Amino acid sequence: MQIQQNISLKAYNTFAINVTAKEFAVFSSLEELQELLAYNTNNENLIIGGGSNILFTKNFDGLVLKNEIKGIELIKEDNEYYYIKAAAGEVWHSFVLYCIQQHYFGIENLSLIPGYVGASPMQNIGAYGVEVKDIFYELEAYHLTEKKQVNFNLQECEFGYRESVFKTKFKNQFVILNVTFRLHKKPVFNISYGAIQQELEKMKITQVSAQAISNAVIHIRLSKLPNPKEIGNAGSFFKNPVIPNEQFDQLKKLYPHLQGYKENENYTKIAAAWLIEQSGWKGYRKNDAGCHNKQALVLVNYGNATGKEIFDLSTAIIDDVKTKFSITLQREVNII
Ligand code: FAD
Ligand code: EPU
Repeated sequence: MQIQQNISLKAYNTFAINVTAKEFAVFSSLEELQELLAYNTNNENLIIGGGSNILFTKNFDGLVLKNEIKGIELIKEDNEYYYIKAAAGEVWHSFVLYCIQQHYFGIENLSLIPGYVGASPMQNIGAYGVEVKDIFYELEAYHLTEKKQVNFNLQECEFGYRESVFKTKFKNQFVILNVTFRLHKKPVFNISYGAIQQELEKMKITQVSAQAISNAVIHIRLSKLPNPKEIGNAGSFFKNPVIPNEQFDQLKKLYPHLQGYKENENYTKIAAAWLIEQSGWKGYRKNDAGCHNKQALVLVNYGNATGKEIFDLSTAIIDDVKTKFSITLQREVNII
């Protein structure tokens, strides 16, 4: 176990922001994590996985701990489900591909989301009609100050749209060590999302399979989202706003093209990308900070943007959308 001093975090965040960490270390077991925490009693800690949902706005004056705990295990099964425990340091997309290969069903729509297994419950990752909460069974986390392991079941995680207790009431209190997923033994496919159906047709797929859905999702994602290896980004920078039905009806009168998706009886979810595009920001660039020209919800670093430049751009967008639509966008990305 090695502790590095004053290292650049550019390679450890998909925004490729060039800040430094006072100290940096990788841990591959709970024991190594405990040793590092015991060493770092006077400083702040930051746990990271793939760094794909983080915006660093300044140098980090503490110890960055990168989770590399590995391992995937089938822990039990019943008539309907397999229960698969994956360590937090497993790469999410590799884990998805492994499950598809093993014929564990239900995770295929979540193909190609960057990052690690350990961060997947943090914001209840979701895409193309499925969220982690739909396949989640339980997780094991380590309490940083009480120094003990705690299990969380589905209810205890209080999952919502891009939310969980780990982003709200227990923020910065736990390190997620492993997550157990409950996956179907028999295929139960979710192709309700229009784009998947269109892509399957384009691919001339007549027999739907987990592999075909995964491939379709991969094609859609590659066509829509900028590749962080080419242009720094963290996916959607903002959440899609969920607004009262009455407010949606009023907006729809003014903008008949506005699409809404019923979130529940009283609320409708609308596309933040549309609000940002209508406010004139799509394709905007100042120095190396920009709003992507194909997907307005994605803020990008064209090379040497600072985290502050990206953050300031996000504030300007929030202010403009608020003035134009009376809707306050919430950031999805974790600001550090
Ligand atoms: P990091 O960025 O390393 O960390 C994110 C947060 O979780 C930080 O606050 C960190 O401190 C904390 N954290 C990380 N690991 C742990 C742990 N083990 N214990 C406790 N805290 C921890 N997200 C979606 O939901 N849907 C998408 O479709 C999607 N598409 C994306 C596309 C692109 C191109 C990119 C770049 C990002 C996308 N994201 C998407 C966001 C991102 O992939 C997810 O949020 C992912 O789960 C982040 O994982 P990570 O390991 O990179 O987390
Ligand atoms: N749109 C625009 N302008 C744009 C882009 C999109 O007006 O520049 C409109 C289109 O009308 C489109 C709608 O926005 O129909 C929705 O766009 P898209 O299908 O690309 O999805 P999104 O709302 O931008 C959300 C998630 C993504 C997830 C996809 C697929 C959030 C914040 N984002 O994006 O998650 O992959 O749906 O399910 O919920 C992430 O969280 O980082 C992420 C990428």
